[in-house]
Amino acid sequence: MVVRKRGATLLRVLAWLVVLLPLVVLVGCTDRQFPQTTLTPRSDYAWSIQHLLDTLVFWVIVIFVLVEGALIFTVLRFRDRPGREDPRHVHGHTGLEVAWTIAPAVLLGFIAIPTVLTIFHTQANPPKGALEVKVVGHQWWWEFQYPKLGVVTANELHVPVHQAVLTRLETADVIHSFWFPAMGGKRDVVPAHTNQMWFTADTTGTFMGQCAELCGMSHANMRMRLVVETPEAFAAWIQSQKAPPVEPDSTSPAGKGKAAFLEVGCVACHTIEGVSPGTVGPNLTHVASRTTIAGAIFPNDAEHLGRWLQNPPERKPGSIMPNLNLTPEQVSSLVAYLQSLK
Ligand code: CUA
Repeated sequence: MVVRKRGATLLRVLAWLVVLLPLVVLVGCTDRQFPQTTLTPRSDYAWSIQHLLDTLVFWVIVIFVLVEGALIFTVLRFRDRPGREDPRHVHGHTGLEVAWTIAPAVLLGFIAIPTVLTIFHTQANPPKGALEVKVVGHQWWWEFQYPKLGVVTANELHVPVHQAVLTRLETADVIHSFWFPAMGGKRDVVPAHTNQMWFTADTTGTFMGQCAELCGMSHANMRMRLVVETPEAFAAWIQSQKAPPVEPDSTSPAGKGKAAFLEVGCVACHTIEGVSPGTVGPNLTHVASRTTIAGAIFPNDAEHLGRWLQNPPERKPGSIMPNLNLTPEQVSSLVAYLQSLK
């Protein structure tokens, strides 16, 4: 008897845990803790996926309650008791068999119809007046071009709130996948093909994103940020990005850094407007205006810039930017120059 009682208590505790744990986890989940959660939509596209998820979860709960209810009812109603005969067995009941064939088909309809509608909705053409951004995936960073505004930047995409943004997705090398969870679904970035995706952000703020397709050694280091800002702030940002780069005094640390930039080979891969034409690596004309470097994996400060320049492949495995064996003086003057490029 004691063993039975203990067993029952244990079962009761387990049952409560099963009920309470998901609640605790759900309450504890915030987008601060999980900046790449898909459960805090911030665009029309992301909301349409969220509504679809809500619909699916609703039907899943209905099915769960019905099936588990029937199961529990059966177990209790027909449980063994001393002296009780076996319940009547049912075989080949036509009505039952027709019912449990039709019911799942109807339920699948409830799920399939909104799913297909959402696919059509999110694949539709963008509204007129959408801001066009050409996104180019690189191993392992993101390039953002605003062809009509004459701006090229990297890893940090700026867009105005409440305006549709049409991204045209291309790659410089292998398949990547463009994904800002708060803005909507993933979309592959495929060689020799331009995919497109559009969304309208409904909240200002900074949102995390990353490549969602295994694309080589530093796939996990191919991150990006989305800055959704007011139309005024966006216009100001565009103006600042269109300005020519800062021209440092040749005797200052930044000036020495510019000389080093021209000397050690940076020019072959990086564009600084009016200084160098390289297009292999990120455009650095206004690199100091960005908050991160190296595929948005490090903060853009003197310490991280210096460590990056010393040995890029050590900081980001497989990095195409080689170790240029820079002297500490070259590193510190290059850092000064890059930090002056606001
Ligand atoms: Cu690019 Cu993974």
